[in-house]
Amino acid sequence: MQNFDVVVIGGGPGGYVAAIRAAQLGFSTACIDGYVRNDKYSLGGTCLNVGCIPSKALLQSSENFAELTHSFADHGISCDNPKMDVAKMLERKEGIVSKNSNGISFLFKKNKITELHGWASFKAAESGKYIISINDNGTVSEVVATHVIVATGSNSRQLPQIPTDNINVLDNEGALDLNAVPANLCVIGAGVIGLEMGSVWSRLGSKVTVLEAAPTFMGAADEQAAKELLKNLTKQGLEITLGVKIGEISNDGKQVTVNYELNGEAKQLVVDKLLVSIGRVPNTNGLNAEAVGLKIDERGFIVVDADCKTNLPNVWAIGDVVRGPMLAHKASEEGVIVAERIAGQHPHFDFNTVPWVVYTNPEIAWVGKTEQQLKADGIAYKKGVANFMANGRALGLGNSIGFVKILACEETDRILGVHMVGPFVSELISEAVVAMEFMASSEDLARIIHAHPSLSEVTHEAALACDKRQLHG
Ligand code: FAD
Ligand code: NAI
Repeated sequence: MQNFDVVVIGGGPGGYVAAIRAAQLGFSTACIDGYVRNDKYSLGGTCLNVGCIPSKALLQSSENFAELTHSFADHGISCDNPKMDVAKMLERKEGIVSKNSNGISFLFKKNKITELHGWASFKAAESGKYIISINDNGTVSEVVATHVIVATGSNSRQLPQIPTDNINVLDNEGALDLNAVPANLCVIGAGVIGLEMGSVWSRLGSKVTVLEAAPTFMGAADEQAAKELLKNLTKQGLEITLGVKIGEISNDGKQVTVNYELNGEAKQLVVDKLLVSIGRVPNTNGLNAEAVGLKIDERGFIVVDADCKTNLPNVWAIGDVVRGPMLAHKASEEGVIVAERIAGQHPHFDFNTVPWVVYTNPEIAWVGKTEQQLKADGIAYKKGVANFMANGRALGLGNSIGFVKILACEETDRILGVHMVGPFVSELISEAVVAMEFMASSEDLARIIHAHPSLSEVTHEAALACDKRQLHG
């Protein structure tokens, strides 16, 4: 039986990053992952195989097509009868995924990490160590670990009314792999996956209807930013209905019939494809947690403290399988922090500075508190808002929708939250994260030189606006 200082279960952005950091710190490290794509083990987890990376590839392809059909004419560029080759688009996406996944194997080799394939479960705890069993297509082997990092991630939540078949009733995997543009698509859940994947297929010509149970759109985002996003997505043709109650759903193999209630009125929608994107559930089922007494809560999450320590000595858990936002960068950062804690270091993780990005058009991104939260917490704040409409670079890009809003403490001027809707805000938000990590004031940002012409000038203007001294607004 092979012995390791650290065994990581799960090779997603939480697990593979934890393994690399542990190896960098001098631990003998193994990472076990069971994900299979195209009949081959494929490192990278949900994020790389069927999440962040393939979705962004399709968002870019569909955005290029939408620009060609809708906005290139403004630049004087025209093309008769543009066509979308969906097979080619999927092939490109597959290429990107493979390249990234092979890249992780390369990094494992470089860092002398043992890559193990198959499904891992706890077998026993003996003499302060853990025996992990690995099932690789029926061949079972075992490894011994001093420290275990569980990073088994999550899977899509199913509707009790209908199972996903990834032919007509899709989860994220099916929505990333449609080989033709459906004439119409119903999305249940106006969350991050619903809006991103709904955008992809809508841009390619599908009639997309989004049904959301909550009465508010994107409740976690700042209200003003969410409103701006909703307005623009609606303009693009996504039909988003809030406050629905989903009833019976049937799938006859050709079409899917969705019954729902809106304001007490019965409604029905018949579509070619249905995407169910109503959140995700942690992967703890196959872990055999009871064999070692690992504590799991009633929703299936592994119970951890602020440092990702479980109830067991030397067993840690990170990423989607524990509390907190289900985001790849959160999982990776927890991976780094746990490896460093195992090495006796004392890194810390600040949930308040985890950035959120939704890659729609316009993109929406935020960090820190929303206006609603500050009001609910009774914190006096000032705000500065600047629009992309007044920014030369945004006008040149032909994408000047949206704004940057900075919320700062009324008393101390410390930045408490930054909310952005607009072009490339997925990139612009990093400046806000850095500022908040360094406890910057809005005046600090206002006094920093921003390149001209650049989109970042809008952040600068918003910082100036906090002190009512905006120059271009
Ligand atoms: P995962 O990535 O889920 O990896 C866990 C791995 O462990 C998987 O390979 C799984 O097969 C394996 N595993 C599970 N159980 C076992 C076992 N018992 N033995 C061996 N292996 C096991 N986040 C962002 O930050 N930005 C985005 O743009 C973004 N886009 C997304 C788009 C979609 C469509 C989806 C579905 C998610 C997206 N996410 C995004 C969320 C992101 O993918 C997750 O937060 C992230 O992958 C979590 O990382 P993880 O390492 O915790 O788990
Ligand atoms: P989500 O939590 O973002 O959204 C789910 C939505 O479905 C919510 O608005 C919820 O109110 C709604 N809902 C729940 N049950 C419903 C029902 N029965 N009927 C109608 N609506 C219902 O979950 P989603 O979109 O599945 O994504 C899962 C996670 O993946 C996200 O929380 C996010 O962390 C991650 N992700 C991140 C991305 C990014 O960072 N850009 C992109 C995609 C996913």
